[in-house]
Amino acid sequence: MGSSDVRLSVALVDVAEGREPEFLALATRFEALLLRQQYGRAEMIRDEAVPLRFYAVRHWVDAGAAARCHADPDVQALTAAFARIARITHVVNGVRHASPSNRFLENRRITVESDRRSGFDRRTKDVGPAGGAERRRTRDRRLGPRRTREGAGDIDLVDAARRAREHADAAYSHFKVGAALETADGTVITGCNIENATYGLTICAERVAMFKAVSEGHRAFTRIAIVADTEAPTPPCGACRQILWEFGGNIEIVLANLRENRGRHRLKDLLPLPFDARLL
Ligand code: THU
Repeated sequence: MGSSDVRLSVALVDVAEGREPEFLALATRFEALLLRQQYGRAEMIRDEAVPLRFYAVRHWVDAGAAARCHADPDVQALTAAFARIARITHVVNGVRHASPSNRFLENRRITVESDRRSGFDRRTKDVGPAGGAERRRTRDRRLGPRRTREGAGDIDLVDAARRAREHADAAYSHFKVGAALETADGTVITGCNIENATYGLTICAERVAMFKAVSEGHRAFTRIAIVADTEAPTPPCGACRQILWEFGGNIEIVLANLRENRGRHRLKDLLPLPFDARLL
């Protein structure tokens, strides 16, 4: 991807009844912020056929600007405010090449082919979790317990996985696992393992989280936290590694038990020679 490439994101936004004025005011603030910080520009396009539906289009200056924007606390606060009054479904996260002959790389498989580093790699370090004082500071900005979509710096992903683990249905193995998957826009989607009397139909926490996320329209991911009640870390099984690679690319894998973090890996290190769409 050359420096002249333009990154583009498009999200489908369904605004809650009666909240449109508030939503449009937020959109104006968001547009101004993107311009002011030179991240790029944003436009909100109304769907004339569907009441209260908009398309949020963001043109990032480049991949670095997109990453800085996602890590910006002001942007995260505005994103959280949007999420309280609208349902946001990400539909495109790609690049438009400078050459007019190229088209948007909005298809995940095409993106994998041109640049295997889907998800985390392209969003760089800034999106990751803050530590120490920074983490406490950003945590204080949480807007209350009812929020389910929180900004990238506003939630402890491992805590979310621990809470998800409590829902695990592990009647046969009694081995409960929780997972929390972070999307590129900071949304956290959780999963737990769900077992079945046939054993083989059991599904792991990681795949539950990923399938939930994909079914809600998410296509770009940064990290997944995996929690089990064991001293040794519980890494994702082979099937989950394949699924995480397919949709998340080289995301970060954070392993933890009920008390502490037990390791941090990149998926590429856990799945060094993956099979994927490039090989079809
Ligand atoms: N399990 C997970 O949910 N994730 C992992 O990373 C490892 C294993 C589940 C599957 C099964 O319900 C139980 O743990 C024992 O294998």
